[in-house]
Amino acid sequence: MTDTQNQPEINKGLDGVVADYTAISKVNPETNSLLYRGYPVQELAAKLPFEAVAYLLWNGEIPTDAQLADFTEQERSHRALDQHVKATLDALPVDCHPMDSVRTAVSLLGAQHPQAGDNSPSAELQKATTLFAQLPAVVAYEQRRRTAGGPTEPVAPRDDLDYAQNFLWMTFGEEADAAVVDAFRISMVLYAEHSFNASTFTARVITSTLSDLHSAVTGAIGALKGPLHGGANEAVMHTFDEIGIRPDESEEDAKARAKAWMERALAERKKVMGFGHRVYKHGDSRVPTMKKALDAMIEHFGRQEILGLYHGLEQAMDEAKAIKPNLDYPAGPTYHLMGFDTELFTPLFIAARITGWTAHIMEQRAANSLIRPLSAYNGPDERHL
Ligand code: COA
Repeated sequence: MTDTQNQPEINKGLDGVVADYTAISKVNPETNSLLYRGYPVQELAAKLPFEAVAYLLWNGEIPTDAQLADFTEQERSHRALDQHVKATLDALPVDCHPMDSVRTAVSLLGAQHPQAGDNSPSAELQKATTLFAQLPAVVAYEQRRRTAGGPTEPVAPRDDLDYAQNFLWMTFGEEADAAVVDAFRISMVLYAEHSFNASTFTARVITSTLSDLHSAVTGAIGALKGPLHGGANEAVMHTFDEIGIRPDESEEDAKARAKAWMERALAERKKVMGFGHRVYKHGDSRVPTMKKALDAMIEHFGRQEILGLYHGLEQAMDEAKAIKPNLDYPAGPTYHLMGFDTELFTPLFIAARITGWTAHIMEQRAANSLIRPLSAYNGPDERHL
């Protein structure tokens, strides 16, 4: 075995390791705050369209009216579902996980991008903008394909709608109520960026080899799929389903059942998705804003029993382990109330996080150093055949 005298310090999971600088966002667990380019995320969620937040993450400043109009025009011109992507999605099993579908679509969009071999800053910004505009069509089509049980007609995008309105339009084929659009927009803003999380770091690792933007995003999607990361919003809904959603149940009864479920789960030492965070140990800065959006949806759809389940799990977890919910916890039931299939929740996270990932890809490329850590060998001592 290895020399026990000179053991290196190992930061399992890179816990606590500061890997590089970033000017894109600041996560401060001490003050429970999250800033995008210096602006508190709550302020951005309250006041800006998602398009303006994307622009801010990529360019460092809030767009002027003229800049936003120009950016919006570009975004709207790339919204339609690409015909090759549609054909490829149609060839996938209808019950495959939509994360696999979106990952496949991004890979295809990379291969056929007119600037595929160009990693210059202007080409990269162009690629980020087109992907940002194309992803809602992919996610919306996956929802529709699943509902139809196979290939179907996509809903054509509408130029008179903003990003959030158009996303819901292309998914459900009808104009969403203003309250639903607002909750959806808020979720996109909150999901957009979160420093060196696992998927963003994956994107930076891939970029650091001088690979291309679509490869980095494809890898990031793979990292996001796992339930310890983005897959948690889907897993939260599976928990709600396992407890049982009973639309006519009172809030109090739902709460009591959820508390009992959590007590059993923790007694069995289960990890309950939607709780805990590697960085925030006293609560996730994004949760209060997302919880308000969930409350608005519960009110809008008249579904108080969801609130009972939500508070029951939260309270029982707090009493037993003092572990707080993360963003995925309120986001999951919010998307459920809007009418998205549970398996579509993490693809929605992709549509939002594409902004943060691509901002990091551009930042990594601008001051690149190959990301290549060391490992401590603990296999057999040298031996011979
Ligand atoms: N449910 C139950 N227990 C949890 C928990 C959860 N969701 N999250 C953390 N814990 C417990 C662990 O079991 C561990 O307890 P122990 O010391 O008695 O073994 C302790 O808290 C530390 O957890 P650990 O997983 O080592 O912390 P981490 O910093 O590596 O984990 C997460 C961060 C996010 C991976 C973890 O909290 C988790 O798995 N959460 C669920 C998945 C999730 O919601 N992910 C989305 C993140 S935004």
